[in-house]
Amino acid sequence: MNLRIPGPTPIPDAVAQAGAAPMINHRGPEFAAMMARTTAGVKQVYQTQNDVMTVTASGTGVMEAAVVNLVEQGEHILVISIGEFGDRLINLVNIYGGKCTELKFDQGLAADLNQIESTLKANPEIKTVLITHNETSTGVTNPILPELAKLVHSIDGLLIVDAISSLSSVPVKVDEWDLDVVLSGSQKGWMTAPGLAFISMNERAWAKNDRNKQPRFYFDLRRHQRSAVNGQTPWTPAVSVWFQLDHSLKLMLAEGIENIFARHARLGQMTRSGVKSMGLKLLATEGVESNTVTAIRLPEGIDGERLLQVAQDDFDTVFAGGQGSLRGKIIRFGHLGHVHEPDIEAGLVALRGALAKVGYKG
Ligand SMILES: Cc1ncc(COP(=O)(O)O)c(C=O)c1O
Repeated sequence: MNLRIPGPTPIPDAVAQAGAAPMINHRGPEFAAMMARTTAGVKQVYQTQNDVMTVTASGTGVMEAAVVNLVEQGEHILVISIGEFGDRLINLVNIYGGKCTELKFDQGLAADLNQIESTLKANPEIKTVLITHNETSTGVTNPILPELAKLVHSIDGLLIVDAISSLSSVPVKVDEWDLDVVLSGSQKGWMTAPGLAFISMNERAWAKNDRNKQPRFYFDLRRHQRSAVNGQTPWTPAVSVWFQLDHSLKLMLAEGIENIFARHARLGQMTRSGVKSMGLKLLATEGVESNTVTAIRLPEGIDGERLLQVAQDDFDTVFAGGQGSLRGKIIRFGHLGHVHEPDIEAGLVALRGALAKVGYKG
C-alpha cells in the first residue's frame, strides 16, 4: 500500500522491527541509556541546545502541554491561524481560560507579518503568540518564523510554534531563529509510529512556565524535565514506539538532516509539478507551498470521496481528504518521512488513474 497521507507516515521495516523488541523496565538502566541517546538525537534534529522533552501523546498532547504550561488564566493571547490546526490552538487557548485574539488568514494563504505587527501594536498587553509552522490542512508553510520571533521578543513576548508536520522534514532552526517553544510528533517526518511527541523549551519559556499558576498534571513540563535528569519519564512511556524512535534517529542522522531537508524539497517540487501537469490547481499560494504535504483543489464536478475510494481500491494508494470546510473540496498528498522518488511517482500514477476513473478529462 502506498500511504500518501500527511501522517501517520510509512515507517522503514527496520524501524517497525525495532518496535517489536522485548519489553524493558522503563525505570531501568537500558531505558535511561536509550532516553539519553534519543534526546541527544532529537535535539540535533531540532538544531537546539534547549531542553527537548519526549512525551507519550499525539501531537495534540504537546499542543495542550504548551497551553497548560504557558498560558495564564485570563491572559490575552494572540493565535495566528491559517487553517484547521491553527484553529485547534485557538480552541485550546479558549478552553484553558486564555483571552484569545484570533488572527485568521484565508485557506491557502500564509500569515502576514505586517498584520501580526499591527495586531500586537493594537493590543500591547499580548505577550504570548502561537502559530502553526506548517498547516497540514492547507499545505502551506509559514515562512516568517525568524522575523516573527524577533518581533515577539521585541515586545518581551513568548513565541510558541506548532511544527508538528514540518520539523524533521524541513528546516526549523530552533536556536538560530530563537524559537521559544516548538512542537513536533513522531508519526510525521520522524519515520516512527504515532505515540510520542516533542516539545522544546528555552529559558524564556521556563521562566513563564514557573510564573504560571494554571493547574497541570500529566503534561506538567517541570516534572518531565526533572524525571529526565534520572533517565526517566514521569509516567509510563510508550516504550515500543521509543524503540522505534531510537532506530529511526540512527537512520535520520546517518542520512544527515541537510540531506533530509533537500530530499523533502525535491519531493515537494516533484509532487507539485506532477499534479500541475494533470491540469490541477493547488490550494497553497505560490511560494508558500509545503514540502511535506500538497493540498490539491478538486476540479469542478469531481466527487472527492469517490476519488479517494477509487485510489484506494484500484490503485492501492491512500490520500487524505480535506478537513473541516475543505471536506470534498481538496485532497491532500503527503510526502514526508520515509518517502522517496518512486513513492511519489507511484502516487502520481495512482492519482492520474483514479481521476480518469471518476470522470476527469483534464
Ligand atoms: C500541524 C499539525 N498540528 C497538530 C496536529 C495534531 O497532531 P495529532 O493528530 O498527532 O494529535 C497535526 C496532525 O496532523 C498537525 O499536522
